[in-house]
Amino acid sequence: MALEKSLVLFPLLVVVLLVLGYVQPSLGKETPAMKFQRQHMDSGGTSSLSNHTYCNQMMKRRNMTKGRCKPVNTFVHEPLEDVQAVCFQERVNCKNGQTNCYKSSSSMDITDCRLTNGSKYPNCSYRTSQKKRHIIVACEGTPYVPVHFDASVGDSS
Ligand SMILES: *[C@@H]1O[C@H](CO)[C@@H](O)[C@H](O)[C@H]1NC(C)=O
Ligand SMILES: *[C@@H]1O[C@H](CO)[C@@H](O)[C@H](O)[C@H]1NC(C)=O
Ligand SMILES: *[C@@H]1O[C@H](CO)[C@@H](O)[C@H](O)[C@H]1NC(C)=O
Ligand SMILES: *[C@@H]1O[C@H](CO)[C@@H](O)[C@H](O)[C@H]1NC(C)=O
Repeated sequence: MALEKSLVLFPLLVVVLLVLGYVQPSLGKETPAMKFQRQHMDSGGTSSLSNHTYCNQMMKRRNMTKGRCKPVNTFVHEPLEDVQAVCFQERVNCKNGQTNCYKSSSSMDITDCRLTNGSKYPNCSYRTSQKKRHIIVACEGTPYVPVHFDASVGDSS
């Protein structure tokens, strides 16, 4: 009896797994390039200028306060093409020693978000700071596009 049941259930399980495997990639798969855009792109001008709640709202809206509060994150307020073009500008070493990082030739409008000291998950509270700096991104793939925000540096660096 038990054997019979498992003979019926096993093929059913296989079908369910196949369907899940088929549906999943088109549904939930976020590529590294898409993740970069979700976490770091906010092209609509200098939207955080004198807006102290910018980071609290954006970190939540862009799903970086799920499961934990992401401690630091930078948003770039420049057109996507200009940020993607950085992959073909000055090559620099990444913080982790990899060699696929690039520094923007111009300084860009960015907002740095940093978790405040007293902030405790699920209440993620951020300090918002608006800056104009050169950005450093890591690039990968074909097309060669930003997949990681490495750092930002001032004009003197
Ligand atoms: C502050 O920034 C957030 C996130 O972009 C935006 O939704 C909100 O409207 C801004 N507030 C003001 C007063 O500009
Ligand atoms: C955040 O997550 C929700 C639920 O998982 C999803 O519907 C939404 O599209 C995500 N938002 C962004 C900006 O990726
Ligand atoms: C943040 O909190 C830690 C430990 O409570 C403390 O050592 C540190 O000085 C605080 N930093 C700031 C910027 O307040
Ligand atoms: C988060 O904030 C809400 C509203 O300010 C408060 O009621 C709640 O106790 C806080 N939770 C934590 C874990 O600090």
